[in-house]
Amino acid sequence: MPTVTSAHMNLVLAWLWITVGVVVGFVLGAYFHRDDWLGGYTSFKRRLYRLAHVAFFGLAIINLLFYFTVQRLTSPGTIINLASWSFAIGAVTMPVCCFLMAHNRRLRVIFLIPVLSTLGGACITFWEVMR
Ligand code: HEM
Repeated sequence: MPTVTSAHMNLVLAWLWITVGVVVGFVLGAYFHRDDWLGGYTSFKRRLYRLAHVAFFGLAIINLLFYFTVQRLTSPGTIINLASWSFAIGAVTMPVCCFLMAHNRRLRVIFLIPVLSTLGGACITFWEVMR
């Protein structure tokens, strides 16, 4: 019988991503006083860099919420393991997609990875908390 995750991986990833988010914010902060940096505040490249910065925190918060939710579930199904991996994949791929797309607009389709994995994790978790 496969074991049910403790979601510890999501907890570790959440705090790693918060740390990386601050470091990225620091780097953004080192240049954002320059109006023309990365083509200016509203440029495509700067917007995607900013989105990556925010995504580190956003997806960290989602992984952290998932971790605490799993601790509260009395008898989760083994499908919760899939949600654990889905949220981790979403967290890792979202900022990566932002940085890649900042340098190549044609890569838009790659955002399907963080979108579908995070959506999958959310649906499974919703199902488990409703059960
Ligand atoms: C010490 C930690 C942080 C630093 C040094 C930092 C730094 C920055 C910098 C420099 C920008 C502007 C980037 C630009 O002009 O293109 C920015 C934008 C932003 N940051 Fe952070 N940040 C930090 C923490 C956070 C946290 C914890 C959150 C949310 C959970 C956050 C959310 C945002 C958002 C939403 C924007 C976009 C704001 C806008 O559109 O002007 N940041 N951050």
